[in-house]
Amino acid sequence: MIAPSILSADFSKLQDEIREIEALGANWLHVDVMDGHFVPNMTFGPVVVQALRPNTKSVLDCHLMVNEPEKFIPWFAKAGADFITFHDEAVPHPEKLIDLIHSLGKKAGVSVKPGTPIEKIASLLPKLDLVLVMSVEPGFGGQSFMPDSLTKVKWLAKEKKQHGYKYLIEIDGGMNPTTAMAAKAAGVEVFVAGSVLFGAKDRKKAWQELSQAIL
Ligand code: DX5
Ligand code: ZN
Repeated sequence: MIAPSILSADFSKLQDEIREIEALGANWLHVDVMDGHFVPNMTFGPVVVQALRPNTKSVLDCHLMVNEPEKFIPWFAKAGADFITFHDEAVPHPEKLIDLIHSLGKKAGVSVKPGTPIEKIASLLPKLDLVLVMSVEPGFGGQSFMPDSLTKVKWLAKEKKQHGYKYLIEIDGGMNPTTAMAAKAAGVEVFVAGSVLFGAKDRKKAWQELSQAIL
């Protein structure tokens, strides 16, 4: 599954950008929410999810790079998010937020920054619907892929196989045909792709090349 990150889309015509990428085959959109505190960049809040929801059938995969995510989870759930992913580094008791997201009828994901050992979220794995491994430092699109992130992916794939966990393994940052191929081999199931798609001169070609790489 490719998850185009709308962070790299042209926000002056967001609906057209989404229609264009969905026409290429996308049915999962990655929505990067940043608060300017947890990460040095700021993007948008639930209002954008609310605006997108009635106009797309795609899965809305909301990546909350925010402090105090517990305050905003209900808003994103109400706005129409399907997956709500928060950062382990932003909360003292992540299991409480997973229960909150599930109580709102949504799927729960946890994300870890490059510097956070993946073993830190071991106790959460049985409850999670998605684990988002950052392969760049969160905050901006267009950064270079950090190959060490694949060690975490391999660990997650092993844990999932061994224990029959249900979470999807998603990778986020620096995806292109070469890095996506390596990520696929490591066990990635959902590939976030921002600049490689929205920044491409020929988006159709970029989509086809990325799709080929993860076959
Ligand atoms: C970064 C975001 C990523 C980013 C990916 O903080 O979480 O989703 O938009 O963009 P690319 O694919 O350009 O690295
Ligand atoms: Zn993201």
